[in-house]
Amino acid sequence: MAQEKEESQLKEIVAVCKRRGFVFPGSEIYGGLSNSFDYGPYGAELLQNLRKLWWEYFVQRREDVVGLDTSILLHPKVWEASGHVSNFSDPLMDCKSCKVRIRVDHFLEEKKGSAFIQGLTLKEMQKIIEEENYPCPNCGARGSFTEARNFNLMFRTQQGANEGGTIDLYLRPETAQGIFINFKNVYSTCRRKIPFGIAQIGKSFRNEIMARQFVFRTREFEQMEMEYFCEPGTQKEWFKHWVEYCMLFLTDVLGLKKENLRIREHTKEELSFYSEATSDIEYHFPFGWGELWGIASRTDYDLKQHEKFSGEDLKYVEQSNNKKYIPYVVEPALGLNRLFLAVISDAYGVEQLPDGETRTVLRFSTKTAPVKMGIFPLMKKEELVPKAREVFSILQTHWTCEYDDSGAIGKRYRRQDEIGTPFCITIDYQTLSDNTVTVRERDSMQQERVLIGNLKSYFIEKF
Ligand code: GAP
Repeated sequence: MAQEKEESQLKEIVAVCKRRGFVFPGSEIYGGLSNSFDYGPYGAELLQNLRKLWWEYFVQRREDVVGLDTSILLHPKVWEASGHVSNFSDPLMDCKSCKVRIRVDHFLEEKKGSAFIQGLTLKEMQKIIEEENYPCPNCGARGSFTEARNFNLMFRTQQGANEGGTIDLYLRPETAQGIFINFKNVYSTCRRKIPFGIAQIGKSFRNEIMARQFVFRTREFEQMEMEYFCEPGTQKEWFKHWVEYCMLFLTDVLGLKKENLRIREHTKEELSFYSEATSDIEYHFPFGWGELWGIASRTDYDLKQHEKFSGEDLKYVEQSNNKKYIPYVVEPALGLNRLFLAVISDAYGVEQLPDGETRTVLRFSTKTAPVKMGIFPLMKKEELVPKAREVFSILQTHWTCEYDDSGAIGKRYRRQDEIGTPFCITIDYQTLSDNTVTVRERDSMQQERVLIGNLKSYFIEKF
C-alpha cells in the first residue's frame, strides 16, 4: 500500500513537471526516445540554480578548490588506465521469449533482498535464478533467460571522417577522469599545494540496462564531481570532512528536509575496485531510498594508473622538504539530475485550503526557486498595467521575475504556487493612490502591503 502511494506520488511529480514546463519527454514529437528527457524553461532555471549553488559552495568559497572544464571525448587509453574498459559493466540477461533485457542483480535483489545478493558472483546469481525458476517479469515465461553476462556501460563512438583513419572513442561515463589526467597541469599552473581539490560539472553517459524512475537513472546525465588530493595517511579525516560538508550543502544551502536524508556506508563486498571506503548520501525519493551522492576514498589508484599507462610522472613534490608522492584522493560525486529530482520531491505538496479547494505547491527555498517573484496587475486595465510593468522592471534587474496579466488573480496565484514562486506582487487600485503593492507569501499565503520604493530592500532581506 505504502509503495503504491509512493509510486503514485512519482506519477504526480512527473505530471507537474510536464504540465508546468520543468521536464518534457525527450524527442516527444517523434514518439519519444526511451528514458530521455528535455528540461523546459523552469527545469532549466532550477538546474542552473543548483549548478550555481554547488559551484559557489565547492569552488568559489573554498581557497583549496579550483574548477575545471574538460572534454567529453578523451584518449581511449584513459579508460583502459582507469579500469572502465575491463570493469565498468553490469550483469545482464535477456528473456528469449519477449526479448526484454534484465539487470541480474536488481532482479534477484527484488526477489531476495539486498543483503542476500551481496558478494554473489555472476554465476552464483544465475544458478539461484535457474533453481528458483523465476518467471520473466515482463511476459511471465519460465526458463527463458539467456546466460547472464557482463555488459560494458560505456557508449562507443568514432572520431574522424576518413575510412581507415577513424579511431574508436567512448563518451565519458564520469567526469572524474578528465580531472585526474589534468592533475599535473593544474597543480603546476595554479601553484596549488596539497591538500587541494579540482571540481567540474559536466555531462556523462552510461548505456544503462535498466534506465528508470524518471530522471533518477538516465543514459545521459550531468555530474558535479570534485577530486580532493591529499597526503597519504590523511585521507580518513578528509573523507569525514567531505561527507559532513556535502550533507551541510543539502540541508543548509538547499534546505532539504533532514528526515529525507541518510548516510549509508558501503560494505567491503560493495566497494568499487578503486575504493577503500565509500559512503552514499541517500535521499528518500518517492519510490524509496536511493543513492544521491557518492563519497569515495579512491586511494592513489587513478593517478598511479595514469602514470603507468601514459609514462608521465604524476607525483607531487612537497616544496618545503622535497618529499615526492602520489596523492590520495577523496571524491564527492553528485548527479545533478538526481539532485533535481530530490529537490522537486522535497518541495512537492498538495494542500487542502480553507475554502475546500486543493492546491499543488512546490515549496522551493528562495535560493533554488526557478522564479523568485510573480508580478501581476489585479486586472488587465489600462491604469494598472503600466504600474505593474514599472514594478516588474525594477525587480527584474535583481531577481528572476515573471509578469502575468491573464486570467483571474486566484488562477495566477495557483500557477505560481505550482512552479514554486516564493512571492507574488499584486498591483491594484490602492497602488495608484498610495504607491503600495500587496506581497503574498507562497507558503503562508499571508499578504502585506509594501511601498514600491521599499520593495528592493524588503526582498534583499527575504532572500
Ligand atoms: N566518479 C565516480 C562516479 O561516477 P557514481 O556513483 O557512479 O560515481 C556518482 O556516480 C553520482 O552520479 C551518483 O551518486 C548519481 O547521483 C549520479 N549518477 C550515476 N549514474 C547515473 C545515471 N545513470 N543517471 C543519473 N545519475 C547518475
